[in-house]
Amino acid sequence: MTTRFLTGITTTGTPHLGNFVGSIRPAVAASREPGVQSFYFLADYHALIKCEDPARIQRSTLEIAASWLAAGLEPAQVFFYRQSDIPEIPELTWLLTCVTGKGLLNRAHAYKAAQDKNTAAGRDADDGVSAGLFMYPVLMAADILMFKAHKVPVGRDQVQHIEMARDMAASFNHLYGEHFVLPEAQIEEHVATLPGLDGRKMSKSYDNTIPLFAPREQLRKLVASIVTDSRAPGEPKEVEGSALFQIYQAFARPQETEALRAAYAQGIAWGEVKQLVFERIDQTLAPLRARYEALIQDPARIEATLRAGAERARAIATPFLRELRHAVGLRSLAQGTAQQTGKPAKPGKAALPSFKQYREADGKFYFKLVSPQGRLLLQSTGFDSPRAAGQAIAQLQQQGAPALQALAAQFTPVAGVTEDEVAAALQALQDTAQQT
Ligand code: TRP
Repeated sequence: MTTRFLTGITTTGTPHLGNFVGSIRPAVAASREPGVQSFYFLADYHALIKCEDPARIQRSTLEIAASWLAAGLEPAQVFFYRQSDIPEIPELTWLLTCVTGKGLLNRAHAYKAAQDKNTAAGRDADDGVSAGLFMYPVLMAADILMFKAHKVPVGRDQVQHIEMARDMAASFNHLYGEHFVLPEAQIEEHVATLPGLDGRKMSKSYDNTIPLFAPREQLRKLVASIVTDSRAPGEPKEVEGSALFQIYQAFARPQETEALRAAYAQGIAWGEVKQLVFERIDQTLAPLRARYEALIQDPARIEATLRAGAERARAIATPFLRELRHAVGLRSLAQGTAQQTGKPAKPGKAALPSFKQYREADGKFYFKLVSPQGRLLLQSTGFDSPRAAGQAIAQLQQQGAPALQALAAQFTPVAGVTEDEVAAALQALQDTAQQT
């Protein structure tokens, strides 16, 4: 079984070493595991909630995309896209908004924190709080539920949002049938949070960050400014609580870390530690930095990569949203109306076949077409890239039965399914596509 991982990165800042160690590096590594399908996206709609500087949002989008690609993310092996390229996301946000209790959103930590701050300052509780901030968890739930993610790797501060997404999915499923997968947060327990220049957690909000791709000389200066205690050269030093040591550990191999631990005990001078830490970080980052510089010079290429990613993501989102619209009653009138109002007699699956894409242990990309009852109708052979698989699906969706002939070599026979059945299923998809 494939496990789908999904996470979003808000496009408001420049990636720093803490982001690399805590999120980019583990996510890129995870995307290479077998049996995993990864969705990583630039959450630029979320960025609008806290940033009103258009140039900054655009620049951050470029920098974050380039950073992930420079760190080795293979855009053809994962779903890598920009949230605002998927118009189905805000549409799903509305469907979820309508099944979400206002009280649930009142309890969101971020919203409550904003209110508490206002109250403490003697202002109206909602002073300066946008409806966007209030709705933040619903938009995030749409991101997650759209792609039926199983696991959402996030920091602790985001766990409540994943729980809310589960609540929304469960409410919707209860009302309209089982459409959504209930996601789970995956908290990065053992991933070190990196200390920043002042020893507190490296974070934009503390203004203590080291930009991931700072030029070598700037990196040297920043590392030199990391806090230490005042122990003199020759005096033994504590690794416990030493920001320099923790940062070194995040980049070095275990033996190297042990060597530095011994050097601390022997009284290495802080100046020397800083030199070691700087060189070690630079050794890891220099090749990535070179790739990053090249990518940043060619924004059009990044744009094309993101567009291609969005196209593949929409191959999932568009038919899924069609199913959801049908489920809630946003239907073509030409399809005939149900006799009764109120809940459907059998709340449940929209009566449409659907395509499922997945990756097998052989590293190839497959898809299948299943009936609304879950019966296998069409089974593809392995494709080398998800893009190729997506294109075959698009061809089937657009052309219907004739594409079955054209692509005949890409299918393996399914026992007990006739070609007419498959053709009828494709026809049903085309019909609803035209009507909605
Ligand atoms: N809210 C997340 C953050 O600030 C970013 C985000 C947006 C996200 N949508 C998501 C994370 C969906 C995980 C899943 O870190």
